[in-house]
Amino acid sequence: MSERAASPATWASATQPLGAQPSVPKLHASRAPTSAIASAPEVRATSRGSSRLGAIIQTENMTQSITAAATMRTWLRVRAPRASRTSDILAWAYPAFAYGELRAAIAAETCAQAAKVLPGHGIQALIGTLCGALLEPGDRVVVPEPTYGLYAQASAVAGAEVVRLPAPDLELDLEAVAAAAEEHAAKLVWICDPNNPTGSPVEHTAWRAFLDAVPPGCLVVADEAYMDYVEPADRPGREADVAAGRPVVVLRTFSKLFGLAGLRLGYLLGDTALVRYLDAVQEPFNVNRAALAAGLASLGRPPRSPHAGPRPSRPAST
Ligand SMILES: Cc1ncc(COP(=O)(O)O)c(C=O)c1O
Repeated sequence: MSERAASPATWASATQPLGAQPSVPKLHASRAPTSAIASAPEVRATSRGSSRLGAIIQTENMTQSITAAATMRTWLRVRAPRASRTSDILAWAYPAFAYGELRAAIAAETCAQAAKVLPGHGIQALIGTLCGALLEPGDRVVVPEPTYGLYAQASAVAGAEVVRLPAPDLELDLEAVAAAAEEHAAKLVWICDPNNPTGSPVEHTAWRAFLDAVPPGCLVVADEAYMDYVEPADRPGREADVAAGRPVVVLRTFSKLFGLAGLRLGYLLGDTALVRYLDAVQEPFNVNRAALAAGLASLGRPPRSPHAGPRPSRPAST
């Protein structure tokens, strides 16, 4: 197994200016080549603009764009006045400041240092970034089954060998996962908590024992897309693991509780050097200003229990 991609020394090298890094690995391309897209029948039809299919596609795209633009205008007026006061939705400018602002707000919300926070355009994108940046062909990853499908797909696209660990009774057996990580010298282990599609959460004590059992050099990725639906007292508090330097990264999203799946926004909590490294290799400014503003406005509204009733209406302004 190569030590290069996941070693702290390599993450630490990301603290150098990007141009000075000899060994930042290329992200693995997961998109179809442009020529393949251009030769797809629908695209050819659309580009000619004369076929019925092309006309339908163009009409649908236009309708979608108009609807999206109208929704965004409404959203910016109604839901983001707070965000627009602090960062402004400056569509013409790259979002460096807004990016930092959201990072700071997430840090405040999670009690993590801002340097341990990496925003991304959804957990899906962050999964891709992790795989592209850390995995090399021949590396092994452990994926319990059943679970969210993208872990295995993205790992395989990066060239890794996926060790699947079926759970016949649908309960996640963390002891078995740690043993498999040891046996296969895995570089990454993917844990979805609560798990999609079973909904089962990871118990505190099982999590602590698991972290102690994971072999050195193996990074645990904990996807907490649905953690907001677990009672606060039952959450494992992985921010503390990250702060304590345990080999864990946490993935969170604005798609579920905040209902912002269409804007694509998530974040990663992890070791400072790892975050810096991932930030250096991921697509720059991959979160757009509208999503950043929406995230900032959402964090200003404390998450509520999904069982709570409707929010009280605001008093009329005078
Ligand atoms: C477990 C899990 N993680 C991540 C995601 C995707 O999150 P995002 O919308 O932030 O990409 C989903 C989406 O359904 C999911 O089920």
